[in-house]
Amino acid sequence: MSAPTHHVVAIDGPAASGKSSVSRELAARLGFLHVNSGAMYRALTWSVLRAGVSPDDPGAVVAHLGVIDIACGEEGGRATLSVDGVDPGDGLTSPEVNAGVSAVSGIPRVREVLVARQREYRLVADIVMEGRDIGSVVFPDTPYKFYIDASAEVRAARRQREGISDDLARRDAADSTREASPLVVAEDAIVIDTSEMDLTRVVEEVLAGLAGRGMEVDS
Ligand code: DC
Repeated sequence: MSAPTHHVVAIDGPAASGKSSVSRELAARLGFLHVNSGAMYRALTWSVLRAGVSPDDPGAVVAHLGVIDIACGEEGGRATLSVDGVDPGDGLTSPEVNAGVSAVSGIPRVREVLVARQREYRLVADIVMEGRDIGSVVFPDTPYKFYIDASAEVRAARRQREGISDDLARRDAADSTREASPLVVAEDAIVIDTSEMDLTRVVEEVLAGLAGRGMEVDS
C-alpha cells in the first residue's frame, strides 16, 4: 500500500469537552474536512433503536449492522452520513441515543467496521477527525494528536446550556473502561484543558501545536 498523503489531525477527549466546536473551527481554518467519528456510532445506535433492537444485545446489534447501509461521504467540503439513505439529523443527539451509544460503541465488531470507514477518509482529504480513539487506534501514525479535556463541572454545565439530557459521568465511565479501544490519552498527544479557555484560544493553542510539530499553518 502506498504511503498516506493526506494530513490527519486527531482530536480526542471525553463527552462535552468542546472537541466538536474546536474540530469544526480548526477544520475551517485549515481548509480540512471535519469528520465526527462519534456521529457514526450515534447513527448506528439511532438505527438500532428504530429497529427495536436493544443496544445492550451485542449479537443483535452486530446482526443489524450487517443489514443496513451506513454511507459516510463528503459533499461540498462537508462530511455526510446517512443510514439506508436517511440522514438521522437531530436524531443523532436524542436522549435515547445518548443513553445507548456507549453500549453500541463498546462492541468490538462495531468498532472494527466503523474504524475501517474512518480510515477511508484519509484517502480522499486532509481531515480533522474527532473521537475517543483517533490518535490511539484509528490513526496512531499521525504526529498531530490532541486530547481536549475540561473539568466534569464545566462539561456538565455545557450540556445543560445545550438543553440536552446526557448522563456524562456514566458515559465517560463506560467509554473509559470498556475493553475495546477505551478513551485514553495517546502517549504523544498534546493535552489541552479547556475549562478556563474560550474557543478562539483553544483553536490558537491547537494551531500552535500543529506548527510545533511541523505543519505549515497560516496564523
Ligand atoms: O463524541 P460523542 O459524544 O458524540 O460520541 C458518542 C459516543 O460514541 C461516545 O459515548 C463514545 C463513542 N465513540 C467512540 O467510542 N469512539 C469514537 N472514536 C467516537 C465516539
